[in-house]
Amino acid sequence: MMNNATPHTIDVALGERSYPVWIGRGLLDDHARWRAMLRGRHALIISNRTVAPLYLERVARGLDGLRWSSFLIDDGEAHKSFANVGLALDALATLGATRDACVIALGGGVVGDLAGFTAACWMRGIDFIQMPTTLLAMVDSSVGGKTGVNLPAGKNLAGAFHQPRAVVADIDTLDSLPEREYRAGIAEIIKGAAIGDAPFFTWLEQHAQALNTRYETALVQAIAAKVRYKAGVVARDETEQGERALLNLGHTFGHALETAGHYTTLLHGEGVAIGMLLAARLSERLGMSGPADTLRLEHLLKAVGLPTTVPAGSDPQQLLALMRLDKKNTAGTLRLILWRRIGQAEIVTGVNEADVLAILQKATTEQR
Ligand SMILES: NC(=O)c1ccc[n+]([C@@H]2O[C@H](COP(=O)([O-])OP(=O)(O)OC[C@H]3O[C@@H](n4cnc5c(N)ncnc54)[C@H](O)[C@@H]3O)[C@@H](O)[C@H]2O)c1
Repeated sequence: MMNNATPHTIDVALGERSYPVWIGRGLLDDHARWRAMLRGRHALIISNRTVAPLYLERVARGLDGLRWSSFLIDDGEAHKSFANVGLALDALATLGATRDACVIALGGGVVGDLAGFTAACWMRGIDFIQMPTTLLAMVDSSVGGKTGVNLPAGKNLAGAFHQPRAVVADIDTLDSLPEREYRAGIAEIIKGAAIGDAPFFTWLEQHAQALNTRYETALVQAIAAKVRYKAGVVARDETEQGERALLNLGHTFGHALETAGHYTTLLHGEGVAIGMLLAARLSERLGMSGPADTLRLEHLLKAVGLPTTVPAGSDPQQLLALMRLDKKNTAGTLRLILWRRIGQAEIVTGVNEADVLAILQKATTEQR
């Protein structure tokens, strides 16, 4: 579809490294807009074998007159690997890319993280543009400059902060996104509201049905609200010295659930959904928050079709052991993101493992 309206524009304010996030229809075809961000004569499109057949041609048409090529990875989290960064760097070398070259990331968070890291590595850092094609990537991974890959030792263990020059979120691409992936992206939208924007949480409760049907006006509003929220946090705390850690609400529980399922049982957004609910229950247990907010979160997650119970057969002791490995912990204590109420998350250190275990045990024995 061709561009038919001025896109929403949100600026990530980082001084001379500030960049726009454009959200709207037909943006991949709006070549004049994003091509203006390319400074040199070389471009490498990084995508995967699912997304490239759908959208690569539309991007390539905008690179007329430049020296460009593409590098495609296989689909899936397992391919967010160092080996593929090496191959992508080889592709830049083959292209003869100079320091003013640009990497274009066309795909979901897997492609975006890998392409951003590749751009951070080539000649110690060149430009890259994010063209997110999943809802999760539009509202979360494409914004904020966290790039990286997985190692055999763990997820996202190698990486760099490297901000893109622009984010081009063409919501046309969501038309082909499978339902389950779409809902996983909604989880990341709910997360933003749960952490720091109570009015937005209420808005989401009121528009859950509209979001389920991908009603455009509501969808664009929701994407823009989450991006605006994240852009503010990133501008205040780019390298996660403080406030940015709040964005990990539900992640410690969620990552443990994802890892226990070997990344095949739950999508990242689904892990975050269940994780947020467990974090809310733990907050309640610790006397930080009341039951009404936990219930509202549970209802909203259910209203948009997200899971709210841990997968059958989950082992509380194994989950706790996995939570101990989280990057956010300092020696010997659990450091978790919990909340006081909807819209007010908090970093809590020294959380008692017995309390966490009690929440996990209850979750594995009780279907609420
Ligand atoms: N950098 C960050 O700040 C950050 C934040 C959150 C998550 N992440 C990372 O993001 C990754 C998850 O991202 P994701 O959920 O986008 O997963 P993904 O990139 O694996 O995409 C999900 C699936 O959708 C397919 N797909 C993508 N766009 C499509 C489209 N328009 N139509 C049809 N199919 C399409 C993909 O091929 C894939 O099968 C994880 O690696 C996670 O660690 C990074």
